[in-house]
Amino acid sequence: MIVNEAWSLDEGANRVSDLFEKSFGYSPHAIHSAPGRVNVIGEHTDYNGGYALPMALPHRTFAAVGKRDDRVVRLISAQETGIREVNLDEVGTYDSDNPVEGWPAYVVGVAWALEQQGKPKMPGMDVAIDSCVPFGAGLSSSAALECAVAVAWDAFMAEEDGWYALIASDKGRSELVEACISAENDIAGAPTGGMDQAASLRCEEGSVILLDSKDSSIRHIPFDLEAVGLELLVIDTRAPHQLADGQYAERRATCEASAKKLGVKYLADLEPDADLSELSENERKRTRHVITEIARTLKFAELLEGGELTGERLAELGQLMTESHESLRVDYEVTVPELDVAVSTALENGAIGARMTGGGFGGSAIALVSVDKVDQVIDAVKARFEEHGFNEPHFLHAKPSAPAN
Ligand code: GLA
Repeated sequence: MIVNEAWSLDEGANRVSDLFEKSFGYSPHAIHSAPGRVNVIGEHTDYNGGYALPMALPHRTFAAVGKRDDRVVRLISAQETGIREVNLDEVGTYDSDNPVEGWPAYVVGVAWALEQQGKPKMPGMDVAIDSCVPFGAGLSSSAALECAVAVAWDAFMAEEDGWYALIASDKGRSELVEACISAENDIAGAPTGGMDQAASLRCEEGSVILLDSKDSSIRHIPFDLEAVGLELLVIDTRAPHQLADGQYAERRATCEASAKKLGVKYLADLEPDADLSELSENERKRTRHVITEIARTLKFAELLEGGELTGERLAELGQLMTESHESLRVDYEVTVPELDVAVSTALENGAIGARMTGGGFGGSAIALVSVDKVDQVIDAVKARFEEHGFNEPHFLHAKPSAPAN
């Protein structure tokens, strides 16, 4: 059985430090890191102006950086051989004649976006990257990369006269979140919402955030599962991601078209009992998911804040997670057989609630499980995946962890 353990901060720092020195021939000036995330509930709500409830994972992406005195960014990743190079003066948006190819878009895109915000011109950077956030697992490895380098660009900016470190305040961190979203939307060309970047930069150890995407406000809510003998188990299905980008964009476009038809800016502006009769069947299903998911997320937050996670309250929380999965399966249609089997198997083996997390079309599921049943759930999911001829699943133990720094 494969459990993906998070690296300690020292281990991550040593890895990127060694890679940096080997690649660039000098010692890095600083090391930064940022976590991946799991979303506990509130899926496909962020770009609809709704609520989500993510937390930062202990799994992080590490960046060792050196400041340069030109505008060149040299990049090396432990996941490939060879140094890539991009000039900050030649960064074009994804739809221009001069797009940035591949993963460097997430790095230089953040510098580009900060400059668009009116921040000082960025210096060049040498950067070495390594990560224990699994790729393609729906756990926001790309946001972890953006946010780790956002903190690096921020530290460079803070050295300029009259500027200060944005990471020192939540308001400053929100500005970094905006830059990371723009890097992803405008430079990498992925039309995602902002939940992942908010989780990576604004979460705190021991809690989830209730994120209101309409005004980007957050509330920290303690989420100490260990204290009540529970665990949030992540099941990385390792299902091949199919058509993920196009499908995500299509869902988003349908939501935007539905909001327009109904005369609201966001689907989150609709009343729970809004009349959806003028929508097509497809639009109605997507809209219904968004409306009900927002209600579930608010209810979940209310229950979390209302008392101990035991008995009826715990059962209700589990039920909301499982209902969220059903809605994503039936109304939003973003699950795949691997996600459905992971969820049903976890539930059959004693999970209190389970659902897919992240964008869907592959990626990961989460299960709320009492600690003494975690091994049973893992063994059962593994066996069921084998029977179905799916890829071997991997598992992660999710604990609400520290933000980018
Ligand atoms: C991906 C996106 C997020 C969000 C989720 C679905 O993770 O990056 O912005 O839309 O999907 O909730």
